[in-house]
Amino acid sequence: MEGVGAEIGARDVARPSTVETPTPRLDLDLAVVRNAYRTMRGLLPDVELCYAVKANPQPEVLALLVAEGASFDLASVGELDLCLLAGARPGTLSWGNPVKKVTDVRAARAAGVARFTTDAPADVDLLAREAPGATVGVRLAVGDDGAATPFAGKFGASEDEAVALLGRARAAGLDAAGIGFHVGSQQRDPCAWARAIDAAARVAARLGRHAPSELNLGGGFPTTHAGGPTPGLAACAAAIREALARHADRWRPRLVAEPGRALVADAGTLCAEVVLVAERAGRRWVYLDVGRYQGLAETEGEMIVYRLRTPGRTGGTGPVVLAGPTCDGDDVLYRHADVRLPLDLAAGDVVEFLGAGAYTASYASVGFNGLPPLSTYVHETPEEGGN
Ligand SMILES: Cc1ncc(COP(=O)(O)O)c(C=O)c1O
Repeated sequence: MEGVGAEIGARDVARPSTVETPTPRLDLDLAVVRNAYRTMRGLLPDVELCYAVKANPQPEVLALLVAEGASFDLASVGELDLCLLAGARPGTLSWGNPVKKVTDVRAARAAGVARFTTDAPADVDLLAREAPGATVGVRLAVGDDGAATPFAGKFGASEDEAVALLGRARAAGLDAAGIGFHVGSQQRDPCAWARAIDAAARVAARLGRHAPSELNLGGGFPTTHAGGPTPGLAACAAAIREALARHADRWRPRLVAEPGRALVADAGTLCAEVVLVAERAGRRWVYLDVGRYQGLAETEGEMIVYRLRTPGRTGGTGPVVLAGPTCDGDDVLYRHADVRLPLDLAAGDVVEFLGAGAYTASYASVGFNGLPPLSTYVHETPEEGGN
């Protein structure tokens, strides 16, 4: 397999190889977010798109998506506040995190949030107490094989449990209107949505006249990273449409999705500086000024292997171990992935992580080893032909 860095470095245009703006930083292009939203809107025209704020809660991103007419999926009071500040109407907000505190539900309710996801009896009871009459959707546990970052059983009810939870919610006076799932993030198998839709349809069939009127297709829509082919959004949308069509004579729910990664990943380039290059036990180690704790959390287990670019270095490449700057032994980005970088790479050079707009800045620690969290610099590339 060709190395991650080699593939891109060779195509790179001439740019200075020294650091001119402070690194590490995330350069975020709002025009790419807008395009991604409009593309998804075009591919899934009947689906309410609730942006999963956790992927990138940058205020400019939220304001752009408010202006585009998006809805929002929340995980916390902090995200609720950010959405309200960005101008989102409470009716466009839904609380997708099944794990919530009493104070979360109270804050959401007070702000006018009326839609919640649940997957456990105690949570249904909490919602019935603190948000009487709210609309609830039950999250099904579905297979997440094929996902780069699976949930591995952390969330979701079985089909039997979902039937019982929706009954429990109804009996407690909640509007038991929804069923949904999440097929695992960076899901590379479009059939995962088809299988999950089949499971939701089975639950709907068992509920007869109480069948949920809303189906939440979750997130998981993949973007291009290194290390294997990724289906396009069109393939995922086609799998979803086909599966829905198979059940349409018996069940036609209103549709919702919660894309995160797919709307923001391609908008971000994470720029890092090489701090040290050293040979250790026959391997070339490249240490950067960014690592696991400044935003590259998704390199844990090498789940996400970013495409890399080394501006201005276009010579031959060789394999490296890529490591972060902290004194923590875990702070190694790639030991096993076939990452290759230019042989003349040296301290002061820039390494760019492409497709890094999702789950980076929002993951950065506040100051591990005294290093600041990742800064985001927002810009907007003008449309071609525009003024
Ligand atoms: C409840 C929920 N919805 C949506 C998402 C967004 O998923 P993705 O970024 O894979 O689209 C997540 C991600 O963790 C999630 O937990």
